[in-house]
Amino acid sequence: MALVLGIESTAHTFGVGIVSDEPRILADARFSYVPEKGGIHPREAADSFVKNAPRVLREAFDQAGVSIDSVDAIAVALGPGMGPCLRVGATIARALAAYYGKPLIPVNHAVAHIEIGRMLTGAADPLAVYISGGNTAIVAKHGSRYRVFGETLDVALGNFMDTLVRELGLAPPYVVGGVHALDRCAEGGKYVELPYVVKGQDTSYSGLLTAALKAFKNGARVEDVCFSAREVAYSSLVEVAERGVAQLGKSEILLVGGVAASRYLVEKFRALAEYRNLRLHVVPPKYAVDNGVMIAWTGLLLFKHGVTVEPERAVVKQRWRLDSVDVYW
Ligand code: FE2
Repeated sequence: MALVLGIESTAHTFGVGIVSDEPRILADARFSYVPEKGGIHPREAADSFVKNAPRVLREAFDQAGVSIDSVDAIAVALGPGMGPCLRVGATIARALAAYYGKPLIPVNHAVAHIEIGRMLTGAADPLAVYISGGNTAIVAKHGSRYRVFGETLDVALGNFMDTLVRELGLAPPYVVGGVHALDRCAEGGKYVELPYVVKGQDTSYSGLLTAALKAFKNGARVEDVCFSAREVAYSSLVEVAERGVAQLGKSEILLVGGVAASRYLVEKFRALAEYRNLRLHVVPPKYAVDNGVMIAWTGLLLFKHGVTVEPERAVVKQRWRLDSVDVYW
């Protein structure tokens, strides 16, 4: 049995997971940085990671009931993400690997979102829709890599949602009881005209954001603005996903990333799945958001295929694209 410890620190979450190859999740410890106001401040987030990392690490070992001696390898998310945040996880992982003489495994955070989704849902060869605060991509495996078949041309879907509700004065907090402020506010709203943008296989949200805020300034009701912005944003994503499955001949869709926890978005994809006779897989909300388990699990897959990196060469890559990573499974 192989045991891998994974460290996540790409954005607002410092997480440590320990998994075995049965597969079994032995530990899932997390700390989340919550900004007092506004968006994530990378250096503030990184400082809070430094303060909380020892506690989170200890908690992970306690949950798993193992010591570091039983761990076969240390996996770490080296990107993509925010530099100061990434460097906290990378520094800790390098130190643990070097001091305890464990192999170090470089994990791409985006690939990890997909792999934890596949592991937990049983999706075999899906079209993955990866949606979070920092990413919006339609992805499918082709040969030995994940390929991007569509992505946002500007801001990510989650970032668009957060910024909109913040500018409307509805947040933070962005998510309460698993429901995003945008979904909550949209209830009872009616449609007002907003620009719908899809270019080829790519989506775009920055023009929509500007137009939605302008509509609000010009007197549109806040629930109408939220409803319409959500409708346009989600529909454009479903459109490119639908074309993706049609073109690639896939029979499964897998939703991963923080925005996959939006029940309303899931409903929209469920309608598409029924209409197109597809199997829809949605990563459980707990693992839709960033966590150390997904890094540990992907690290385990890489470890089994002999992928390791020397600690001195394990540098963070803020813009590490998932389509530049070889996947051997
Ligand atoms: Fe993420």
